[in-house]
Amino acid sequence: MSIIFNKVSYLYNQNTSLEQPGLQDVSFKLKTGSFTAVIGHTGSGKSTLLQHFNALLKPTSGSVEIAGFKIDAATSNKGLKPLRQQVGIVFQFPESQLFEETVEKDIAFGPQNFGLSEEEAHKRARLWLRRVGLSQDLATRSPFDLSGGQMRRVAIAGIMASEPAVLCLDEPAAGLDPQGHQQIMQLFKKYQAAGHTVVLITHDMDDAARYADDVLVMDHGQLVKHASPAEVFADPDWLHRHHLEQPATVAFSQALARAGMQFEHLPLTRSELVQAICQQVKGAGQ
Ligand SMILES: Nc1ncnc2c1ncn2[C@@H]1O[C@H](COP(=O)(O)OP(=O)(O)OP(=O)(O)O)[C@@H](O)[C@H]1O
Ligand SMILES: [Mg+2]
Repeated sequence: MSIIFNKVSYLYNQNTSLEQPGLQDVSFKLKTGSFTAVIGHTGSGKSTLLQHFNALLKPTSGSVEIAGFKIDAATSNKGLKPLRQQVGIVFQFPESQLFEETVEKDIAFGPQNFGLSEEEAHKRARLWLRRVGLSQDLATRSPFDLSGGQMRRVAIAGIMASEPAVLCLDEPAAGLDPQGHQQIMQLFKKYQAAGHTVVLITHDMDDAARYADDVLVMDHGQLVKHASPAEVFADPDWLHRHHLEQPATVAFSQALARAGMQFEHLPLTRSELVQAICQQVKGAGQ
């Protein structure tokens, strides 16, 4: 069950004086079970793109095929519940996704709405509260009395508790402390390893390099590249032209390469870089 965007364009405020392109002629195909990072400068269309994954926005022209649905401009809002069950989105400002009296009720809402009994849904809620790294003590608190980082984790738990086949995340680690950031990214990677598809919008190039199989690069509403992290991050000038930077590890590896170090493959992550350096040091010592 791959995800196909076929020539998708989206106009905000269509046929008004405020009409503005959000997406222009975007086509790509994502494999089931893949981890895709979406990167691009501010206003490049990343959030607009993500909202097409479960028909919160419908293409002005073109179509989206996902989870057995084909969505185009004529798709009715009725009957989309099974799509929303299979494709979960954590929004860029997840605070806006919280609404229940208590944290546990908030997380249980999705699973219950999609058919679990109240008891099962609350069990799921407690499980995901723990998985996103929050203490059970928070279960009975109002979600609006939490810190920004805690609210973000509750919103993530609220979507993941329904265990959607496709998990879409709009800058989910923004505002988390460095340890929380790593924990939550590991949780998404584990979710992918369990057979789900993950789509992650991020401004963190190191996360894109470390976790993604595939990268979509957006610029002014257009998809300008769909390739592996190694390919996307190899060319600093190309990235610069699209208002992006290399991950720190890649820039460092290239600086080492310029200074004479030879790499079989450009290291994308810190552990790959360490491994490559160790091999060379060992090689030089023999
Ligand atoms: N509700 C809206 N009404 C009108 N225009 C919008 C609306 N939301 C977004 N846009 C416009 O659509 C374009 C793409 O916006 P989008 O929010 O998708 O960008 P983004 O890549 O997610 O940016 P960021 O990195 O800042 O979150 C921008 O030019 C933006 O001004
Ligand atoms: Mg955005």
